[in-house]
Amino acid sequence: MSDEIQKQLAIDTHSDQAELFANRYEVINQNPYQNSFVYSRKRLNEWLDKYIPADGKGLKMADIGCGTGYHLRRYYDRGFEITGVDGSEEMLKQARIANPGIEFIQTDVDTVPLPSETYDYTLCIEVLRYLPDILPCLKEIKRVTKKGGTALITAAPTFQSTLYPIVNKIVMMKKKSNLTQLKQYFHTAGELREASQKAGFTDIEIHGVYGGNSIWLDRLLPVVVPPFLKVWDHVDNLTADAPILKNFSNMFLIVAKY
Ligand SMILES: C[S@@+](CC[C@H](N)C(=O)[O-])C[C@H]1O[C@@H](n2cnc3c(N)ncnc32)[C@H](O)[C@@H]1O
Repeated sequence: MSDEIQKQLAIDTHSDQAELFANRYEVINQNPYQNSFVYSRKRLNEWLDKYIPADGKGLKMADIGCGTGYHLRRYYDRGFEITGVDGSEEMLKQARIANPGIEFIQTDVDTVPLPSETYDYTLCIEVLRYLPDILPCLKEIKRVTKKGGTALITAAPTFQSTLYPIVNKIVMMKKKSNLTQLKQYFHTAGELREASQKAGFTDIEIHGVYGGNSIWLDRLLPVVVPPFLKVWDHVDNLTADAPILKNFSNMFLIVAKY
């Protein structure tokens, strides 16, 4: 399958799941330990907030692959001037309903119609994992970010403890599956560092956001997930970003500047 068809398939799959995706975020404020999805976002929010100031007045942010707009809403509420872009009109429909007043543009993340060197903060959350080639998107993120600004980008680790890269391969070989059949792309910290350098970033940190295997507990034993995750959060504080161990985390956060 060509890269272009693969990319379109990722966008179409998200279009089909747009409503589901919007609903998944709804419980995060009630109980961030309810399931592994909201837990992952709780951990990520804490990481993002280490780099993004509490007061966004006078600051610009772009969210590349913004989906239903969950992340940009958090920062809009803090006063940032925000633009969201995504390839899926259905995802953007949900984003527009939830976020009146924010500008949204439908586009491929490899060719973003935003001005160069404009944004103090550029987010790209859970998008690289759907791209056969991450370099064009990273180049666009670098291009739109101001010199001295910060890009915050997540990626899916090759050696993650969920073993999801292997599962994704198996699911793709099956004719039918009750897991989403969409090929995903996984990267090592070294590959992400090299690609970020090629894109033009010079100051690059790569962090592990969360670890563990709760994604499988979600499916097998959902009732034990909230108490387990509450305890696991403390373990994650010690291990998810520890040297060597971070390579086995389930999400990388790239913090990149130039
Ligand atoms: C897992 S969702 C993440 C959405 C949002 N960043 C979040 O964290 O809630 C991935 C998003 O990337 C978008 N996407 C994937 N490939 C894309 C591409 N080539 N161009 C534009 N958007 C793309 C999908 O439409 C989807 O909204």
